[in-house]
Amino acid sequence: MFSNLSTPTADPLLGMMQQFRDDPSADKVDLGIGIYKDGQGNAPVLATVKQAEAFLVESQKSKAYVSSAGNEDYNRLTRELIFGANSGLLARSQAIQTPGGTGALRVAGDFANRLKPGCKVFLPNPTWPNHPSLLAAAGLEVVSYPYYDVASGKLQFDRMIEALRAAGPGDLVLFHGCCHNPGGADPSLAQWAEIAELLASTGAMPLIDLAYLGFGDGLDEDAAGVRLLAERLPEMLIASSYSKNFAVYRERVGALTLVAKDETTARHAHGHLLPVVRTNYSMPPDHGASVVAHILGNAALRKTWEGEVAEMRERINGMRTKLVSALAGRTTRDFGFLGEQRGMFAMLGITPADAERMKVDHHVHITSSGRVNVAGLTDKNVGHVANAIVAVCG
Ligand code: LMR
Repeated sequence: MFSNLSTPTADPLLGMMQQFRDDPSADKVDLGIGIYKDGQGNAPVLATVKQAEAFLVESQKSKAYVSSAGNEDYNRLTRELIFGANSGLLARSQAIQTPGGTGALRVAGDFANRLKPGCKVFLPNPTWPNHPSLLAAAGLEVVSYPYYDVASGKLQFDRMIEALRAAGPGDLVLFHGCCHNPGGADPSLAQWAEIAELLASTGAMPLIDLAYLGFGDGLDEDAAGVRLLAERLPEMLIASSYSKNFAVYRERVGALTLVAKDETTARHAHGHLLPVVRTNYSMPPDHGASVVAHILGNAALRKTWEGEVAEMRERINGMRTKLVSALAGRTTRDFGFLGEQRGMFAMLGITPADAERMKVDHHVHITSSGRVNVAGLTDKNVGHVANAIVAVCG
């Protein structure tokens, strides 16, 4: 069965990690896969995570199965983080722990496909490259909608609204909750309100990918759009990830949260999610979620973690400003928009051939789409990266 298989191609993002390792240059800079690096270029374990891990090693009494929904404290704390500790949305929402945000997206896709087989999922253009294949693998029909104009560095809001009129009841519309990957541009609150109005009129359900909470303007600020949609719409799904804001990438810590029209419906829908999990991976891995639950549930650790998130956010936003200054007046394109955008990613608006030149000639590794991981910039490498962009963009 295996002998007729063709030569496999590497995943566009995961494959970059190996390419970077294989680059022998002392000047190489990794701006590929979305990992936060500190000012020294390291991706360390957060101090709060280390403390929580030590606590768990000492206190955990059993490794017995939990359930398909995972850690119940974690699920409650996740909903409280997304909606706010006193939000009325807590009553009509439910969450399950998943293996990363990717696992949550897949469960969401499988669930939607059970509810309306072959339903459509509308994806922003551009989007995370794994979205189309992941949701198509769940049996959904993938439709693209205009979102961000790479050439101008701006949202295509009117075109987006026009295109989304085609999404109907039982279809999903995926939005990035904050810090859009790869564009870095998010709707304003007024625009989220327009989106809510449109979805209320068409009956399509939002599926929010929330992977960068806290990396834009703050934990509550970044959740504002999601909260607005949840308050104004009867139903939604939120695939969230703690990979970035707890730096627990390899532990696979995510959640799928659903909002329903009332408490009873939310509980029923939660019950129907569980067989989707049971027939796939049975139940999620415990360790990373227990670490996150311990931190979010402990007032002192949580305060320290909020400081850690603020530090990561401020460093990213600071590097955006430094990159803009290092490029100012040196290129035909004005890169000022990079300083106004938020999150880990930015699009340079260059061709795949130019992205290849960045890598081969300057050892600056970015994706072939021209996406830069701003969180990989440091004071030491920003000048080199700016020179590479100037050399390639002219
Ligand atoms: C990225 O976009 O680089 C991250 O979300 C990591 C991944 O899994 O692709």
